[in-house]
Amino acid sequence: MDRRSRMSLALLVSPVGAHPASWLHPESNNAPPTDLGFYQRVAETAERGRFDLFFIADTPAARTDNLHAWSRFPMFMNVLEPVTLLTALAGVTRRIGLGGTVSTSFTEPYNVARQFASLDHLSGGRAAWNVVTSANDYAARNFGHAKLAPHALRYERAGEFVDVVRELWDSWEDDAFVQDRSTGLYFDPAKQHPLHHKGKFFELDGALNVARSPQGHPVIIQAGASDTGQDLAARTAEVVFSSNADVAGARDFYQSLKGRMAQYGRQPEELQVLAGLPVIIGRTDEEAEEKYQALQEMVHPDVGRFRLGSDLELDLSDLPLDEPIPIERIPANANFHKAFFDSIVKMIREEKPTLRELYLRYERGRKTIKGSPARIADVMEAWFTAGAADGFMMQFHVMPGGLEEFVALVIPELQRRGLVREEYEGATLREHLGLARPANVHARVAE
Ligand SMILES: Cc1cc2nc3c(=O)[nH]c(=O)nc-3n(C[C@H](O)[C@H](O)[C@H](O)COP(=O)(O)O)c2cc1C
Repeated sequence: MDRRSRMSLALLVSPVGAHPASWLHPESNNAPPTDLGFYQRVAETAERGRFDLFFIADTPAARTDNLHAWSRFPMFMNVLEPVTLLTALAGVTRRIGLGGTVSTSFTEPYNVARQFASLDHLSGGRAAWNVVTSANDYAARNFGHAKLAPHALRYERAGEFVDVVRELWDSWEDDAFVQDRSTGLYFDPAKQHPLHHKGKFFELDGALNVARSPQGHPVIIQAGASDTGQDLAARTAEVVFSSNADVAGARDFYQSLKGRMAQYGRQPEELQVLAGLPVIIGRTDEEAEEKYQALQEMVHPDVGRFRLGSDLELDLSDLPLDEPIPIERIPANANFHKAFFDSIVKMIREEKPTLRELYLRYERGRKTIKGSPARIADVMEAWFTAGAADGFMMQFHVMPGGLEEFVALVIPELQRRGLVREEYEGATLREHLGLARPANVHARVAE
């Protein structure tokens, strides 16, 4: 398998931090998450570290129940709409890719195609769309549904959604807009290719009203980890975020995902798997461990219960903290995040932790790496060389300080080992990631 010699680096940015107690930490940013200044500082730091991608997760909903718990862990309660935020950042950054999440469950392909093509133009070819199907009923309730559609149906819609978006991005050939004063032609009519689509979920008859963007197609990201999620990713994604706690599990996922690509006529190098990697850096491994434990002690039990309970799709509020969750209470299957659900059930069955131990240990499939800069670099190198990841989606528990330490202490070590770039060489996100610019399907036919 042809792999690049350098790892890719993305940054998962959450205004309240990666850990359930991040925002309580005295060194964490505590400016309102609607303040552009925080994101600008973070993006500039990531650019200084020559990161490939600045990335925003999202869900179109605030939580409206159990506020006694969610008010202590304000995930997605006060967040900017991702494409709007990324557009503002396009103006104050120069090289870093700008990726944002938009769900396929609550909007139409035309909107998404137009938004990301616009972002790609405004950023000079740095846009990426994270395709998600959404994983909570709060979002469904904002769009006329009591509950999310079943998992399989959401993915079926997502598949058709992505196909339509990609076809819309090919509505115009690259050189359609000639703007030629001598002939009086603003565009070449032969280079418009309207889409006539009638599918199970969408019907369209038209063309995008914006020129083909610098990357041709903005980069497509995905994070679904279930079988269905992997199939969609193998067919359509160019970057996938994986969530594994150890190198063996990450390698299994990597091989499973890349192994599915051939059936869709794709080569393994057309998709990069970035392993989610939360890190805490200390001057020594002991200091990093102490920093982590200090955060763990700040997790309020209600937050622990509800965070775990929402991924387990189970009300844990009546259960004692210092006893294991009774096996018979576990739901038979999941509709939200199937992969996260499976990982919790596995921990309960195999290790029988108490509820408190479980919520403290549960990191949505990932496991924080704690240690000195050299140890963090060792772990990243080991995962990369073992074929468990093409790069990493970095998460920091204390922001922006954790990122600043990483850029100052770990990046130089990775550069010394030749594992990451010293300077940006390309201008677009595709160039950073070594992904080909897709040819317009209509132009290819005409050749
Ligand atoms: C690492 C990771 C990050 C995700 N980020 C988001 C997100 O920002 N917004 C969202 O609605 N869903 C997000 N998802 C949900 C998935 O895209 C998917 O819709 C959900 O996990 C159900 O699919 P699965 O069962 O295939 O994992 C994420 C999933 C993973 C594994």
